[in-house]
Amino acid sequence: MLKTDIFATLLPAETPTPTEEVEAFASANIALCKYWGKRNKELNLPVNDSLSISLGHLGSKTRLIPLSDDSEVDVVSLNGEVLANDDAFVVKLIQFLDYFRRDERTRVQVETHNNIPTAAGLASSASGFAALTLAIDKFYGFNLPTDQLSALARMGSGSACRSLYSGFVQWEMGVREDGMDSHGYPLEARWGNLRLGLLTLTEKAKAVGSREGMQRTIETAHLYQSWPAQAAADLLTLQSAITEQNFQRLGETAEHNALAMHATMIASWPPLLYWQPESVATMHKIWTLRENGLPVYFTMDAGPNIKLLFQAEDQAEIEAQFPHVTVVAPFA
Ligand code: PMV
Repeated sequence: MLKTDIFATLLPAETPTPTEEVEAFASANIALCKYWGKRNKELNLPVNDSLSISLGHLGSKTRLIPLSDDSEVDVVSLNGEVLANDDAFVVKLIQFLDYFRRDERTRVQVETHNNIPTAAGLASSASGFAALTLAIDKFYGFNLPTDQLSALARMGSGSACRSLYSGFVQWEMGVREDGMDSHGYPLEARWGNLRLGLLTLTEKAKAVGSREGMQRTIETAHLYQSWPAQAAADLLTLQSAITEQNFQRLGETAEHNALAMHATMIASWPPLLYWQPESVATMHKIWTLRENGLPVYFTMDAGPNIKLLFQAEDQAEIEAQFPHVTVVAPFA
């Protein structure tokens, strides 16, 4: 099944020409149980369920402005800078917009602002595609339900489907061929004293994007065969840790899950090692702090940066140990 078939089923054949500018915001999210591997590349359908936590005010804001009739091209800007139309980000964004665009004539100005570093493994593509999907829905007046928007955002970037919601969000892989049951589901549980710490160790863009990285892992890493079972077990453990607010269990499981995902990447050929020397040094520092009694854990995505997990009562000590940390209170 192709993306175009799904969009054609869900969207009306015609809509009024957009005349008003619109704006939408979506939070970034960090997975505690990771999504790594697609069972369907066209629709971004995952091999495993995943579970994330939303980053509240950190994310992407996207504004869509209809351009005048004589405009021949869309104009895309990121953090205030207009990008060339052959830029990889622009090409991907416009392809996505074209799936929704009912009115072939109207060109659009797309302005995205991220308040998190772009492409440094802090999930800005997730919030970017989620904000874009929300903005497009308003722009064309589709008024689709959030679960459908989540499934559509997934086709832009898999993890974007979790950025349509706040708090803890589970992305269920689903079973339907059209993937419309593969979207985010918000969990009811809240966890007031849970804190995340973002450590930007380098802002260098990652060398291999997640799409290519996942594919290489599936095709070349025998170790990947054990990933779906580990992810399924970790997800259950995380659910119980969240229900019981058991921080140690949450931290240990999230850290183990991230390292298991990285182990499959490293076992690929050519190897995928997203870590930089600073990443490894920071892991050792976290393990030493933990041995000395500070309950702090970490997770990492497809990049060199580290995200800390800790509790509010330890915030002062975390800030003393990591002076550049950005602390996020997801439920405060
Ligand atoms: O949504 P993508 O294609 O950027 O993939 C995200 C993959 C990870 O960030 C490594 C894991 C996750 O679940 O967010």
